[in-house]
Amino acid sequence: MTDTDQHADSLHFSTDIKPLFRDLDRNSMVKVFDLWNHADVVAHQDAIVHALESGSMPCDGPWPAAQVATVKRWIAEGSRP
Ligand code: HEM
Repeated sequence: MTDTDQHADSLHFSTDIKPLFRDLDRNSMVKVFDLWNHADVVAHQDAIVHALESGSMPCDGPWPAAQVATVKRWIAEGSRP
């Protein structure tokens, strides 16, 4: 795989991660951190993954496994904006 291929395949916060967080998620969490802000999500990414994997967040029902896997892949690739 070339560097160009890797870049084309890589996940980005703006296009792949931010859209996963609903208005409800953002509004419920904004006093702790802003789920629509890249720097905030990066700063709390370990706690966010833990909450998603354990199913404790979102408060109204766990995410599908594929959605959690997308967030983990984005972090593994370097949490690109
Ligand atoms: C995908 C969406 C969400 C994620 C990733 C998320 C993530 C988290 C995380 C990581 C914490 C722990 C914060 C800490 O470090 O103390 C937390 C706390 C909390 N979340 Fe969420 N959350 C989400 C959605 C929601 C929703 C929809 C609600 C519904 C009301 C909610 C309510 C809360 C509450 C009440 C706390 C405790 C806050 C506190 O400690 O003061 N969250 N959440």
